[in-house]
Amino acid sequence: MSFLDRFMLKDKIAVVTGGARGIGRECALAMAEMGADIAILDLLDASRTVDEVLQRGRKAISFQIDVRKEQEVDRAFDEICEKLGPVNVVFSNAGVAYCENCEKMSFSDWKNVVSTNLNGNFLVTRAAGRKMIAARQGGSIILTASMSGFVVNYPQNQVAYNASKAGVVQLTRSLACEWARYGIRVNCISPGYILTEMTPPTTKKEWMDAWISRLPMQRIGTADELCGAVIYLASEASSYTTGCNLVVDGGYSCY
Ligand SMILES: NC(=O)c1ccc[n+]([C@@H]2O[C@H](COP(=O)([O-])OP(=O)(O)OC[C@H]3O[C@@H](n4cnc5c(N)ncnc54)[C@H](O)[C@@H]3O)[C@@H](O)[C@H]2O)c1
Repeated sequence: MSFLDRFMLKDKIAVVTGGARGIGRECALAMAEMGADIAILDLLDASRTVDEVLQRGRKAISFQIDVRKEQEVDRAFDEICEKLGPVNVVFSNAGVAYCENCEKMSFSDWKNVVSTNLNGNFLVTRAAGRKMIAARQGGSIILTASMSGFVVNYPQNQVAYNASKAGVVQLTRSLACEWARYGIRVNCISPGYILTEMTPPTTKKEWMDAWISRLPMQRIGTADELCGAVIYLASEASSYTTGCNLVVDGGYSCY
């Protein structure tokens, strides 16, 4: 296999959660360009991403489901294996953000963030692991954590998000150790500030200014700038990489 081929995902089956838009959508399209068939799981209608994958000559299906719901996640993985074949790559990326001071935050807002960002990742990685272990072909699981898993953002307060993303980093490291024996690698990416619906260009100017002033690269990133990290972790190019938290944040967390 040539070195270039080690980055390819030819005929791999890849599942992407949160692939209707944003980082998930960009990475799903990049994985399709590298040769993978794609299954999208999202609360939103993902037909636009599906069409764009099909235009790239790969198979694509989507499931409008909630990653917080155990039966919906398990059923989707059953159907993906029936329709596309054994799952090789899972990008567990769906997430929500919420900014509020802790003393003002309701318990239900806390639970909404934690149940999506942490419980959702548990349900998706568990379903993925079960399928990969049963198929005995190994696999690569990539979770989307955040630099907020290890830095405290400024000036906005977002305790639930930060705590949930720290949990994603340790979920990743724990599963890397548990599942290495099955040939399953588990890694996460930690984006910094990325322009998407979650962090739109319309964000309060004083927040944007504060972020950019602390960014060595002096700019917010774009979703396509995560694709290289995800392709690397999904592919054979990272065959000795597991339990890694690949930070893609323009240097924000270096200060
Ligand atoms: N944008 C940033 O600045 C940034 C920074 C660090 C980490 N992240 C993380 O990157 C990931 C993707 O975020 P994005 O910026 O693309 O945001 P986004 O809001 O554009 O996309 C998130 C996607 O997840 C889906 N989703 C949310 N809850 C869901 C649920 N319960 N079930 C199924 N799907 C659900 C949404 O419908 C949406 O399509 C998230 O985990 C986010 O926390 C984003």
